[in-house]
Amino acid sequence: MSEPFYITTAISYPNGRPHIGHAYEAIATDVMARFQRMRGRDVRLITGTDEHGLKMYQTARDQGRATIDLADEMSGYFREMYRKLNISFDNFMRTSDPAHHRASQAIWQAMEANGDLYLDRYEGWYSVRDEAFYDESELTEGEGGVRLSPQGTPVEWTVEESWFFRLSAYQDRLLALYNDNPDFIRPESRRNEVLRFVEGGLKDLSVSRTSFDWGVPVPGSPGHVMYVWVDALTTYLSGIGYPDTDGDFARFWPANIHMIGKDIVRFHTVYWPAFLMSAGLPLPRQVFGHGFLFNRGEKMSKSLGNVVDPMTLAEQFGVDALRYYLLREVSFGQDGSYSAEAIVRTANADLANSFGNLAQRSLSMIFKNLGGEISNDYSPSEEDLALRSTVRDAAVNLLPREFEELSFSVGIEEWLRAVFACNQYVDTQAPWALRKTDPERMRAVLMTLFRAIRTLAIAIRPVVPSAADALLDQMGIADDARDFAALADTEWFAKLAASGFAVGQPVPIFPRLELPEGEGEA
Ligand code: MF3
Repeated sequence: MSEPFYITTAISYPNGRPHIGHAYEAIATDVMARFQRMRGRDVRLITGTDEHGLKMYQTARDQGRATIDLADEMSGYFREMYRKLNISFDNFMRTSDPAHHRASQAIWQAMEANGDLYLDRYEGWYSVRDEAFYDESELTEGEGGVRLSPQGTPVEWTVEESWFFRLSAYQDRLLALYNDNPDFIRPESRRNEVLRFVEGGLKDLSVSRTSFDWGVPVPGSPGHVMYVWVDALTTYLSGIGYPDTDGDFARFWPANIHMIGKDIVRFHTVYWPAFLMSAGLPLPRQVFGHGFLFNRGEKMSKSLGNVVDPMTLAEQFGVDALRYYLLREVSFGQDGSYSAEAIVRTANADLANSFGNLAQRSLSMIFKNLGGEISNDYSPSEEDLALRSTVRDAAVNLLPREFEELSFSVGIEEWLRAVFACNQYVDTQAPWALRKTDPERMRAVLMTLFRAIRTLAIAIRPVVPSAADALLDQMGIADDARDFAALADTEWFAKLAASGFAVGQPVPIFPRLELPEGEGEA
């Protein structure tokens, strides 16, 4: 059986509708999941919504509605967005699900049995927006003397009876973890932040609340609900069946990658591994903290009026164009900027004009000049062989090497270089001019192009799944021959030629985009 690969997105607070940041993270995670599936791995991708905590409770209260009602509605939008964006998730976990409650109580009891939980009184700062406790020394002063968290959110003084987790006891084990597993926290800049934080010493963590009751009840402790991050992180376990430790959990835990935003690295690389160690569970292999996306370089905010609904972008420009743009444009791990005109520019330049046009022209000539016939009966020239090897190298070596490291933009650049090589080849070989003068040579050129396009379409499939599949459909490539094993099959072309498949009148795959009225550079 093939090797398992388990990847997760962070689960979002459904206190409002999803924004582009959620879409971005889900797309990157999905590209990795699809890529690994194409590598032959047995993949699980888990996502969901983080429905407990004070933020959800207060948002619902302010709207005069029940918290579960808000969660039901908003969670639905997240699920719908992931579907629309072609996110191939295996499970969408809602933390209000009773199965998730059972999982959270099970990990709690395991930590308690290990002697790491005790009852005391919490006095300190709390940010509802971050759902985080902060030390006095981490705060700054904002306008009017309000105290702000390192994320710039307001904090409030909180006093209540609370369960504590003995985080202070884990400092050495955490430092050893980072030291022994240099890839546990990526990228490097995030790792350094965490090292500094943990080296500074750890205080025990408040892990339950008594001032409200929206959460997972603490077992055997009436009046306490778990601190939202304790149950939220447990989604990574409940999403694959925990506390049932047979089945999927046995197969997929520990996770290969937790994909998260850079603002929640501390929860995932300090609290989470400590909880797991306490509960006697294996640790995830990697936490990747990606950057933020800015709308034309500005942070999105409701007051600036520049909050963009990812569903609108998907409708305006197409899901594949949006997916491609986000991964191509932003160097993964760093912050990035996006704008409607940049999406249009990139999709047109790379997808419509370069790859789409290459495919459309080549398949049209095969259809018109060769009656659609795919034939292995030609002898390739040196240029043909050189192009074949450039394309092959990009598809089976260069792009996968980068994608394996989550360097999506670099991997896509390698792919694009091979697309450019094909376009240059078409221009120099000028197959249209060979039709009368040297039809045999024309056949060799068009067959070389056919091979290259199929290989490039397979390689870029994780990024633009619908478009790549629509193209491969037109090329007679079977559904089960669109992965890396197929790219390693040297007989595929001979087999296709022998099958009698003929190319039909091609349908363009990547439309040229236009900016909607009223949008564009001011
Ligand atoms: N809801 C949290 C946030 O948006 C993320 C939780 S990720 C978790 O910041 F899975 F660890 F819970």
